[in-house]
Amino acid sequence: MEAEQRGAAGLDDRALAARWGYVAEAVEALSAARSMDEVIDVLGARARRIIGCEGVVLVVRDGDLCRCVAEDSVESLWLGQSFRWEESVAGWAMHHATTMSESDVLLDPRVPPDGYADTYVRSMLVTPIGRGQPRAAIAALWSESGRPGDNQVAMLETLARAASAALERGRLLASLEELNSELDQCVRTRTAELEQSQDVLRQVQKTEIVGQLTGHVAHDFNNLLSPIIAGLDAVLTDNLPHDAVLRRAQMAMQAAESAQTLVQRLLAFARRQPLAPTGVDLVDLMAGMEAMLRSTIGPRIDLVVDLAADLPPVHADRNQLELAILNLAVNGRDAMPDGGVLKIAASPCTRRATSGQRRKFIRLSVTDNGTGMDAATRALAVEPFFTTKPVGHGTGLGLSMVHGFAGQSGGILEIESELGRGTSVIVTLPAGLAEVESPAGESAEVHAAGSQGKVLLVDDNELVRHSTCEMLMELGYEVVEATMAEEALAMIELGERPDLVVTDHIMPGMSGAELAVRLRRDHPGIALLIISGFEGVELIAPDVARLSKPFRSRHLQASIAAARALVS
Ligand SMILES: Nc1ncnc2c1ncn2[C@@H]1O[C@H](COP(=O)(O)OP(=O)(O)OP(=O)(O)O)[C@@H](O)[C@H]1O
Ligand SMILES: [Mg+2]
Repeated sequence: MEAEQRGAAGLDDRALAARWGYVAEAVEALSAARSMDEVIDVLGARARRIIGCEGVVLVVRDGDLCRCVAEDSVESLWLGQSFRWEESVAGWAMHHATTMSESDVLLDPRVPPDGYADTYVRSMLVTPIGRGQPRAAIAALWSESGRPGDNQVAMLETLARAASAALERGRLLASLEELNSELDQCVRTRTAELEQSQDVLRQVQKTEIVGQLTGHVAHDFNNLLSPIIAGLDAVLTDNLPHDAVLRRAQMAMQAAESAQTLVQRLLAFARRQPLAPTGVDLVDLMAGMEAMLRSTIGPRIDLVVDLAADLPPVHADRNQLELAILNLAVNGRDAMPDGGVLKIAASPCTRRATSGQRRKFIRLSVTDNGTGMDAATRALAVEPFFTTKPVGHGTGLGLSMVHGFAGQSGGILEIESELGRGTSVIVTLPAGLAEVESPAGESAEVHAAGSQGKVLLVDDNELVRHSTCEMLMELGYEVVEATMAEEALAMIELGERPDLVVTDHIMPGMSGAELAVRLRRDHPGIALLIISGFEGVELIAPDVARLSKPFRSRHLQASIAAARALVS
């Protein structure tokens, strides 16, 4: 005979509606659950009240066993205990993936006779949780025999389905996360690989550039050394007529000055040369460069220089400006393999400076009527290392240097170019004040030895020290020498009283700048001149006279005059 239906079957409409309200709340809570533990937490806390039974247990399958993982019951039952899978009702429900109603456990032959002997449990309703092969089950328990009401079955199944959906979602999310992290890892590995290969590429490019550069420099230096050696050879040869010696010596000097320019170019490329902007008179600068420019561009190209009258001086580093013009001229030359016209023009203009104020600028343009550039080349032209020239003919650094120089000087670089018509590169630089002429001009007189005063000369390099010493003596100074700053200080402590200390800057031990600071403090009457290369010049106090290597006798004389003016 059919067991009697009971439980929620006897509830009135309002009570039933309230129960379904609880079901809705539980379903909502389950929708936020992602793991079996969270599902168990929600069901364990709410199911008993929803179903209206005396106990709810949650069972999880663990291999051949079913383990009771949560329980909400009038009396404690099996929490933490495990049962053989085939002997448990929950196991059966999971195995058959279906809800199972047990109206009297004592009458069911599948249940071991002593299975529920010590408990209050007489009837139960069990529903599996999880799709496909369920991994868990929820059981509602009663102390009396009988069939659960249809609403109770529907409620328990609704809870189980919401729990299954939550587990499914959790599983999908977990695999999505796993996929995501795999993807992440993949991207990271790829990026690292890419960066590594770019590093290698950069290294290769750098090596190539260094190779090209070294090749160029070695070749250029060799060419410059030939006239220098020839000149010195003439000086050392006995019976050559005086004017022949003079001619060759002059050629040697020219070559040496070109070598100086080459070194400056290299330093500018290495960005080791700090900018020293002064007021540069372009007319004067161009006059000094013209011969060199003409020989650089060759006889097939006409050089036209068109500088506006009353051109104010340009506020820029003289050497860099020279270098910029040279670079632009070489580019123009290369763009006119069959000859043409290279025009260097300058005119004043006003424009807004970076400060926002309108200021005077000089518009310097270098124009050729050569091949011109297409849009793509023009767009990339100032990029470092961009070149369209064959390997060994261009490093692609020329325009990028000019561009950097213009920016650093507070100006701009613009390119106007038309394919087949020619190119104009315009460098607009701020106008400045004219440089004060050095007190000692070209007309250096030779004085009797010692009449100009006494110089303490400090330099660790013997060759350089000797040649400077010769120059000083020719200029009429009495010279005492020291090989390092400490030795110079010791000499002064012992009573040596020079009028002037001329010192190298970078030396082992104390530097020239440090020596200057000490002397300024302890012997303010001694004039100071630091002769420096390019390293560490920023450490030299701005009020100490400085002379760059290499230099000629007249430069040394002018710098000494400046140094003496600072102490008098
Ligand atoms: N006057 C010009 N006419 C046509 N193309 C030019 C001109 N100036 C520059 N270019 C283009 O811009 C490129 C870059 O010029 P840039 O001076 O930076 O390098 P480069 O001349 O190739 O090499 P480098 O100056 O280092 O010897 C050139 O290779 C060339 O394609
Ligand atoms: Mg170039």
